[in-house]
Amino acid sequence: MNDQYAVMGDPIAHSKSPLIHQLFAKQTQQALEYRALLVPAKEFKQYLSDFFLKGGKGLNITVPLKELAWQQVDIKNPLAERAGAVNTISLQDGKLLGHNTDGIGLVRDIIQNNNGTLKGKKILVLGAGGAVRGVLEPLLLENPKSLTIANRTVEKAHKLQVLFSSQGEITACGFSDVGKEPFDLIINGTSASLHGALPPLDKGMISKQTWCYDMMYSKEKTPFNFWAETQGAEKTMDGLGMLVEQAAEAFYIWRNIRPDTSSVIQQLIQK
Ligand code: ATR
Repeated sequence: MNDQYAVMGDPIAHSKSPLIHQLFAKQTQQALEYRALLVPAKEFKQYLSDFFLKGGKGLNITVPLKELAWQQVDIKNPLAERAGAVNTISLQDGKLLGHNTDGIGLVRDIIQNNNGTLKGKKILVLGAGGAVRGVLEPLLLENPKSLTIANRTVEKAHKLQVLFSSQGEITACGFSDVGKEPFDLIINGTSASLHGALPPLDKGMISKQTWCYDMMYSKEKTPFNFWAETQGAEKTMDGLGMLVEQAAEAFYIWRNIRPDTSSVIQQLIQK
């Protein structure tokens, strides 16, 4: 039997992870199977132990199970520990090792796929939920000039500021206190796009040099990226590249081989 991998989440039917990992496996000639498993939160613990008892080699974990996975694994690497969420599980000496590859995926998509720079840049991150917490440390590790977290509920942004303050220059505020000076990069990590909504943003934060990144992706331009373009942003990106890059990092953790992501991103765009 080929090595078994899966992604667990709820809902899971529209997950692109099986396709992405099958494309990676084909490209790198790895014999493996990768399935999507619908797992209700209250049954996660059972599914998790069953999967590895039956010989499973690795898991991806998606919404809404990443925080539960963080609680359930035996050990976590430091990035996953601070992220408060686990999106990839591997086996190490029979123990479940939790990783978080989301932030690495975001950073690689910006730097490698879009030829962007984070070092020395003024970055604004919108949102302070689980998705944002998962990406803050890899962003700070790139040594931006500053990183501001703006959130509807200001206290949540402040909590993240405290949690990550030892990792770099980080401040927190509400949307109305972001200031009038433009940012080099604005990352939307709110779930507002999911509901077709936009955080209430000031026009001044975008200049002709500003890049905008929506961690969400959809066939049509996301409301945030649409707004950014109409404000004259230099470039807009969505989270498809991040999705493929976080998967590539998971694939590397499991198989010790780095797949080429650009061809896979192109195939997904064409589908
Ligand atoms: P996720 O795991 O996707 O991050 P979450 O932890 O529920 O989900 O966080 C959702 C984030 O989107 C939060 O920052 C939330 O703001 P609050 O902390 O104030 O709730 C933000 N969000 C959701 N809908 C929004 C909207 N319509 N406008 C602005 N922010 C929104």
